[in-house]
Amino acid sequence: MTDRSDASSGDKTPHNGQMAPSKKVFVKTYGCQMNVYDSERMVGLLKPLGYAPSDVPDDADLVILNTCHIREKAAEKVYSDLGRIKKHKTKKPDMKVAVAGCVAQAEGAEITARAPVVDMVFGPQAYHKLPEMIARAARDSGEVLETDFTVEEKFDRLAEREVDGYSAFVTVQEGCDKFCTFCVVPYTRGAEVSRSVDAVTAEVRSLASRGLREVTLLGQNVNAWHSPAPAGHIAGHTEGSTFGLGELVRHIAQIDGIDRIRFTTSHPRDMDDGLIAAFGEEEKLMPYLHLPVQAGSDKILKAMNRGHTAETYIRQIEKVRAARPDIAISGDMIVGFPGETAEDFEMTMEIVREVNYASCFSFKYSRRPGTPGATMPLQVPEDEKSDRLARLQALLEEQKQAFNAAQLGRVLPVLFEKEGRNKGQLIGRSPYLQAVHAVATPDMLGQIVPVEIIGCAPNSLEGALAGLKEKTS
Ligand code: 5AD
Ligand code: SF4
Repeated sequence: MTDRSDASSGDKTPHNGQMAPSKKVFVKTYGCQMNVYDSERMVGLLKPLGYAPSDVPDDADLVILNTCHIREKAAEKVYSDLGRIKKHKTKKPDMKVAVAGCVAQAEGAEITARAPVVDMVFGPQAYHKLPEMIARAARDSGEVLETDFTVEEKFDRLAEREVDGYSAFVTVQEGCDKFCTFCVVPYTRGAEVSRSVDAVTAEVRSLASRGLREVTLLGQNVNAWHSPAPAGHIAGHTEGSTFGLGELVRHIAQIDGIDRIRFTTSHPRDMDDGLIAAFGEEEKLMPYLHLPVQAGSDKILKAMNRGHTAETYIRQIEKVRAARPDIAISGDMIVGFPGETAEDFEMTMEIVREVNYASCFSFKYSRRPGTPGATMPLQVPEDEKSDRLARLQALLEEQKQAFNAAQLGRVLPVLFEKEGRNKGQLIGRSPYLQAVHAVATPDMLGQIVPVEIIGCAPNSLEGALAGLKEKTS
C-alpha cells in the first residue's frame, strides 16, 4: 500500500493551480521497488486532479492495483483482491477500478473478461496518461485498455511525486533486453531505456532541496544505464561521450545534501570496471551491491540465457571486494529451473558458500506463460523444489545472521529515518542496508549519526549512540 502524500491538510482552498482534495484514491502496490516508485508517481500525478490518498479501498473514488507478474502467486493475488473490491464497488457504484503494472501489461483484456469490475487496464508505460484515462472511463461506459509499449518519455511526463522521510528511489532506467528464459520482465516492461543525466540530476537536486539525504537509483537493469555525458562535462570525458552508471553515481555525488547513493538491481553482464572502481573511490556510494546470479551450475545458467558463468560471476565479486573489502553482497536465486538436477542444485549451494551473501532472495522456479522456460522439458516436481528451497534458505539465513553478528561492537554511521515502535527510539539504516534501532532524540531524524552496534536480532540491529550504551529491548 502506498500512501505518501499529505492528505491531512484539510485546506479546501485551491492553490498553486491545484484542486483541493475532494476525491480519494486507494493504491495497492505489489512486487518490486519499481512498482513502489511508479505508485508514488501516480499519486503525485493525481493530486492536482483533486485526489487524496486513502489507506482503505472501501469508499475510494478510484482504486488502483499496481501489479506484479514475476511469479504466478502475485498475479493470482490480484484476482482475489479484485473479488473483495467488487463488494466495495457494489456499495459505491461510481468507484473506478484500475489494474496497472505488469499483470495489466501481460494479460490485457483478459483481466476485464475475468473481472468485469475493472474499468481500466494499463501497463507500466502508460501511467502518465492516467488523467486522460480517468476522464475517458468517466465519460464512456466500457473499459479502457492501454497496454501498448510507448517509449515516449514516460519518466519526464510524470508529475513530481510526493516523498516523505529522508531516502527515496529515483528511476533511472526501465525495461530489460536480457530475456532470461524464466522472466516476464522483457515482455511486460519492454526494452531497456535510460533517462538522461540532466533529468536524473534535476530530480535528485529537487529531492535534496526537500531535505532528502539518500537516493537509490532504480532500474530493472540499472547498471545497463547509459546516456550522453551532459553538455560541458570535461573531467575525464570529452564532450559527447557516454556516461555509464559509475559516472552517473560520481555526478550525483556532487549534489550537496545527498550523502548516500545506492543502486539496484544490477546484472553481472553489465558490471563494468568504472562502476566497480566507484565502490572504492566514491565515499557517498554505499557498500552494498545487489547482483543476482540465479544459479550455480553453468548448464542451468546457459539454459536461463544469463550470459555469464559461475566463474565470471565469482571473478566480479572478487573485483568488487578488492575495491571495497567490507561490501555487503546481495543476490537472487532460483531453485528448480527446468533440467536442474540434484548435482546442479549442489552447485547453487556451492556458489552461495563461495560468495557468502549478506542477504539474498530465493525463489522456487515459477512457470510464466509466454517465456521459453515454461515449455522446457524436465520441469522439476514441486516437492523437490520445496526441499531445495528449504536447504538453500537455511544456508542463506545462516550467512545473513553471521554478517549481522559481525557488526557487533562496530560503530556504524546510521541515517535515522523514522521513529521506532518503542518510545524514544529511532530506526535507521546502516551503510549495509541493515535496519538499526537506537535510543535517540527526534531531532536526529534525517541525520547520519555514529552508532555502536550492541545487539543483533533476526531482522535488525540494536545500536547505542556514543556514551549511551544501555539495552533498549
Ligand atoms: N520464477 C521464479 N523466480 C523468478 N524471478 C523472476 N522470474 C522468476 C520465475 N519465473 C526472480 C529472479 C529475479 C527476481 C526479481 O525474481 O530471481 O532476479
Ligand atoms: Fe528478468 Fe533477466 Fe531482465 Fe532480470 S535480467 S529483469 S531476470 S530478463
